[in-house]
Amino acid sequence: MKRIKTAVIGSGFMGSAHVEALQRIGGVEVAAISSNDVDAANEIQDRFSIEKFYEDWHDVMKDEEIEVVHNCTPNFLHFEINKAAINSGKHILSEKPLTMTSLESEELLSLLKSNNVVNGINFNYRFYPLIQNARVEVEKGNLGEIFLVHGNYLQDWLFFDTDYNWRLETEQSGYSRAIADIGSHWCDMAQFVTGQKIKRVFANLVTIHQKRKKPVVNVATFKGKEESGSIDYNEITVNTEDAGSVLIEFESGTHGVFTVSQVSAGRKNHFSFEIDGSKKAVSWNQERPNEMWIGYREKPNEIIIKDPALIDKSVRKYAHYPGGHPEGYPDGPKNLFNNFYQFIRDGKDPQKDQTDFPTFADGHIENKIVEAILKSNKEQKWVEVD
Ligand SMILES: NC(=O)c1ccc[n+]([C@@H]2O[C@H](COP(=O)([O-])OP(=O)(O)OC[C@H]3O[C@@H](n4cnc5c(N)ncnc54)[C@H](O)[C@@H]3O)[C@@H](O)[C@H]2O)c1
Repeated sequence: MKRIKTAVIGSGFMGSAHVEALQRIGGVEVAAISSNDVDAANEIQDRFSIEKFYEDWHDVMKDEEIEVVHNCTPNFLHFEINKAAINSGKHILSEKPLTMTSLESEELLSLLKSNNVVNGINFNYRFYPLIQNARVEVEKGNLGEIFLVHGNYLQDWLFFDTDYNWRLETEQSGYSRAIADIGSHWCDMAQFVTGQKIKRVFANLVTIHQKRKKPVVNVATFKGKEESGSIDYNEITVNTEDAGSVLIEFESGTHGVFTVSQVSAGRKNHFSFEIDGSKKAVSWNQERPNEMWIGYREKPNEIIIKDPALIDKSVRKYAHYPGGHPEGYPDGPKNLFNNFYQFIRDGKDPQKDQTDFPTFADGHIENKIVEAILKSNKEQKWVEVD
């Protein structure tokens, strides 16, 4: 198999996760890493035997060997880097959110019309085997008519006012935080599994800590709680939501609701949803990804365990190990990247051929949903997703 040469930009939580997943799919050589954090990048470079390091990401775009770029930087760099990759004719896999505004994501979509590069966005949660199976179940009509979709995405890593990360700064993260950061995953999942688009929203968002204590030194993502109490702080005003609830309506008229929070004590990455259909219901929680609850009215409920033998044939490829051998968070990006690189290897046309991974078009839709949620929260009324 031809090894495709790739560069990963960003050496934090996701940069490292992308490198690791790429090493596991085969057929890809992570040939370069780029980051402004030289120490972290050098550590990853060393650990994964990556040939080149670029402190300035612009140099990645000039490297003719590099065919694919993974953008794992903070949100404010997504537009610029994604745009540069497209203009350099490099295939691009971006972290979410695609950009900070829908104006920017629209510009990327328009650029893609004249630069035929393969583009993907890391809505990784779609790629758990039981999620893929649930989508097939809905498609086949096995849930019947969808009555309700509801759930939540709860975390506690910003619980204390001393917890800090670049996501708390609007200039780096965007006008929405909890919704854009984790609500985007929830909405993408709800749309993916039901096969329906969210048409309108009614939101109520809250900022629990209006003031937070910013450490004078940089704290890596999700590391705040390990270091809390041992550092000096400056007080800053927070402009984005810690939590919120959103009523949603799908294009079919199906009703839904979800809550997101980054201040729910004890909840680490509690991403859950339930779809209630006229034949049965399904419910799933990311922290127990190898189980899906199936609810019935007329007989005992069931729990399906991730097992290639028990899921639809068409999605068996997403389960790499037999039943009883759990797969987890790092396997979602791995499955997504597998599809993305296979599409490149097959020489498919991103403008004409159907993709089996989320693209920039999905990222743009998410931006539109986030903007409708912000508008609805401000005006306290239903807002159509444009
Ligand atoms: N899909 C998921 O499950 C998931 C999970 C977490 C984060 N994310 C997304 O991944 C992105 C990165 O988040 P993270 O948690 O890894 O953040 P992080 O702070 O851990 O890492 C960001 C990295 O970008 C680097 N960086 C900053 N400025 C740079 C520059 N000018 N040039 C090159 N590198 C630069 C930093 O040094 C750091 O290594 C975010 O957009 C976030 O939304 C996605």
